[in-house]
Amino acid sequence: MNIAVIGSGYVGLVAAACFCELGHQVTCVDNDPKKLKLLQDGHVPIHEEYLPELIGRHHRDRLYFSRNLADAVKASAAVFIAVGTPTKTSGEADLSFVESVARDISKAINGYKVVVTKSTVPVNTSQWIRQVLLLNGASPAEFDVVSNPEFLREGKAVTDFLYPDRIVIGSNCDRPLAVMNEIYAPLFNGSYYKAGGSIPPPAHFRNRPQVIYSSAASAELIKHAANAFLAMKISFINAVANVCEAVGADIEDVGKGIGSDSRIGPRFLHAGIGYGGSCFPKDVAAFHTVARTYGYEFGLLNEVERINLDQRDRFIHKVRSALWTLKGKKLGVLGIAYKCGTDDIRDSAAVAIMHQLLAEGAEIQAFDPAAVGRAREVFGSRIVFAQSAYEVAEGSDALLVLTDWEAFAHLDLNLIREKLKYPIVIDGRNLYNQQGMANAGLIYYSVGRTPVGLEQLTEAALGRVC
Ligand code: UGA
Repeated sequence: MNIAVIGSGYVGLVAAACFCELGHQVTCVDNDPKKLKLLQDGHVPIHEEYLPELIGRHHRDRLYFSRNLADAVKASAAVFIAVGTPTKTSGEADLSFVESVARDISKAINGYKVVVTKSTVPVNTSQWIRQVLLLNGASPAEFDVVSNPEFLREGKAVTDFLYPDRIVIGSNCDRPLAVMNEIYAPLFNGSYYKAGGSIPPPAHFRNRPQVIYSSAASAELIKHAANAFLAMKISFINAVANVCEAVGADIEDVGKGIGSDSRIGPRFLHAGIGYGGSCFPKDVAAFHTVARTYGYEFGLLNEVERINLDQRDRFIHKVRSALWTLKGKKLGVLGIAYKCGTDDIRDSAAVAIMHQLLAEGAEIQAFDPAAVGRAREVFGSRIVFAQSAYEVAEGSDALLVLTDWEAFAHLDLNLIREKLKYPIVIDGRNLYNQQGMANAGLIYYSVGRTPVGLEQLTEAALGRVC
């Protein structure tokens, strides 16, 4: 099938490459000439597992990049809207890009099309898109609007697309379902999973995705509510971690105990410096605003957001309590991205914490396996960028772990201790085993667990006094 994908950001680009992988012909449209040139030259502008492979496999064969929305729409049976929906200062999603694309689609319609929203949008956006299309001259016979939200995690987006837990198709009538079913047929009937050369499945994938047909409004709500629930799970475990710190319990044990209840599940129960990224903060705020607009005050979401921001302050407080004053202290920072597996630093808790530490007069040298390029655009020469984790530790008063990159969990701890000026590690992601840190002679602070190694400090100090 011929498909147009409007917007070549994280969602659009991954969807376009994966639709090609399912056998379709895709034109991916973007109005940013710089990005377009990169893509047309075969470069991949984001750090995303398997995306370079897929784009390399399909570019110029089934996958084309273009600035011409009208031509792409004319040639396609389905048009996916995957443009950005940033947050306004009010917390509402800014839908002006979606509206403008809907207007452009209406001008290009030349026969029946299914217009699909992939961007995360508030409830009833499908109705608005329909209205914009009709007001701009499209006839009701020429289109239907479907909500088909994405549930992709950055870093795992390709795998999540091709091996999803569920595919949600929200439509208020049956007419567009044949097109939607044909698009996803290789996933629905499992043929993609049996084909040679498929992207490898994730460990937890069982057989085929569940398909959920609903109204457009329900599909839109599923997306917002799913993200809000996951954010709530993270804030909940962070709040429990704070109680653990107060009473001397261990959040890793408590999390395991809670998560082993099959009604709760172990995922998204990792305590830390809070969630970030371009989705959860934006979507929790947008969902909250949507509920309020329709007359319901969803107070729980206030708390989810408050606990999340509080985790950053609590971490800074931990740094202060380990080092006393921060002015002039040299801090080694491991991790800048909002989570592992991505170079994305949008609304990264690590970035917010670094800004605060700089404001308090600390000096920072930082390393991230993927996000240094983007971090340079934000921090310029205000921080020093190191080439490795060990270089970050060199001469630092303390080492701060802010992103959960797997490689950080396997560092040579003895070498880290030797390189640090003081043997202090403050871990915002609970990457290390406490005993291992103490054995390596490190003073170790983490989240929801009692600090370890402090007694060694006292003994060393006493030894010096004696
Ligand atoms: C999230 C959702 O997981 C996707 O299902 C959704 O499609 C996507 O938003 C979106 O709306 O586009 P993503 O933002 O890529 O995906 O990242 P997550 O893996 O969900 O992590 C979000 C944040 O929560 C990160 O900062 C991560 O470090 C943090 N987190 C996650 C925790 O602090 N603890 C956890 O247990 C899990």
